[in-house]
Amino acid sequence: DTGYFTYDPGYMSTGSCESKITFIDGDEGVLLHRGYPIDELADHSDFMEVAYLLLHGELPTEVQSREFEHAITYHTMVHEQLRRFYDGFRRDAHPMAVMCGVTGALAAFYHDSTDITDERQREIATHRLIAKMPTLAAMAYKYSVGQPFVYPRNDLGYAENFLNMMFSVPAEPYRMSPTLSKAMDKIFILHADHEQNASTSTVRLAGSSGANPFACIAAGIASLWGPAHGGANEAVLKMLGEIGSKDKVGEAVKMAKDKSSHFRLMGFGHRVYKNYDPRAKVMQKTCYEVLGELGVKDPLLDVAMELERIALQDEYFVERKLYPNVDFYSGIILKAMGFPVSMFTVLFAVARTVGWVAQWKEMIEDPAYKIGRPRQLYTGAPKRSFVPVEKR
Ligand code: SDX
Repeated sequence: DTGYFTYDPGYMSTGSCESKITFIDGDEGVLLHRGYPIDELADHSDFMEVAYLLLHGELPTEVQSREFEHAITYHTMVHEQLRRFYDGFRRDAHPMAVMCGVTGALAAFYHDSTDITDERQREIATHRLIAKMPTLAAMAYKYSVGQPFVYPRNDLGYAENFLNMMFSVPAEPYRMSPTLSKAMDKIFILHADHEQNASTSTVRLAGSSGANPFACIAAGIASLWGPAHGGANEAVLKMLGEIGSKDKVGEAVKMAKDKSSHFRLMGFGHRVYKNYDPRAKVMQKTCYEVLGELGVKDPLLDVAMELERIALQDEYFVERKLYPNVDFYSGIILKAMGFPVSMFTVLFAVARTVGWVAQWKEMIEDPAYKIGRPRQLYTGAPKRSFVPVEKR
């Protein structure tokens, strides 16, 4: 009667599930993907290798890498008719709303070739989702700014292809910068998977009924959009902009401690980490690299650094173990790279698709999994007889 739910072997009934993909020690601030620390993967690997690792459990050999990247590359185009979906949206529609729609629409194009009981079709569905998300995301951006869609190119790597589809225009090709492509790739790695967060649990629960994997990922996108989850990176930048300058940080911290203000420091705190989010450390380092490479001096970075400095010394935050999370610095980097704030959570969704499909695959392939059926503690009215309207 504590409200905690029992654990169904092999599948999450509500409160927990078993997985071999990601381990988090919230007290120690540790994040491992198939046993590898996130900072080592961010420093030495690349997003396609991490995607393979999450899906298959081991870092790929050179041959496996080449085959996997070829498979992803040759699924990056979307059906030409999907372009028409975008015309149905207002130009100022939030790109996350567009992504929910067009990703779900993929189910209409691939429904008849996604027999999830067939291993090969499952694998192709995971490749299609990983490959097409950057294309759909870039199309959502291009549509919002009234520029022509840019097709994916097979001669570019995953992160480069995305940057090219985002920022290339017919009049002027996108000037590739190894630092920015590497930073984009690293940001994708840092957002790839994170155990049973809200959006991943959404994908697992949707998938547990045998639903089409494209529709399940659309459900994950919807959950990620929330400001308490993936929408926090957008909210962080808005918060830093509202604070405006270093000398106003003290006031913001004071307000965040005042419950009646209902104001929270976005990018701070975490359901699991009660220590520094290891991704935030790598993100801060990347922030310096990108701003240095671009020669950008963003006053919001000074505000963020001052906010972190004051909060980490303040007993309210220390007592509650509130530290910067993955979203605290990511927005500053993305803004410097030219992304509009409205695209920040979309980038999170592109990266997290790798974790979502890996976790979906793990669940579907577990013989013990069964449909999720959260139970509840009923706290409503006791049994009673019907009352005719004239007697109410
Ligand atoms: C992500 O689950 C995942 O793994 C998510 C994620 C992933 O990769 O998938 O890591 C990505 O979603 C990161 C989190 C992004 N969200 C934010 O940055 C939004 C701001 N953060 C908070 O809303 C909050 O910290 C949560 C929702 C993230 C976590 O909330 P908890 O752990 O449930 O903490 P809580 O809401 O119970 O708060 C505990 C206390 C409360 O005070 P008391 O009631 O004890 O007095 O801490 C306070 C809260 O008021 N608090 C904050 C705060 N976060 C918690 N106070 C000020 N600012 C904050 N950010």
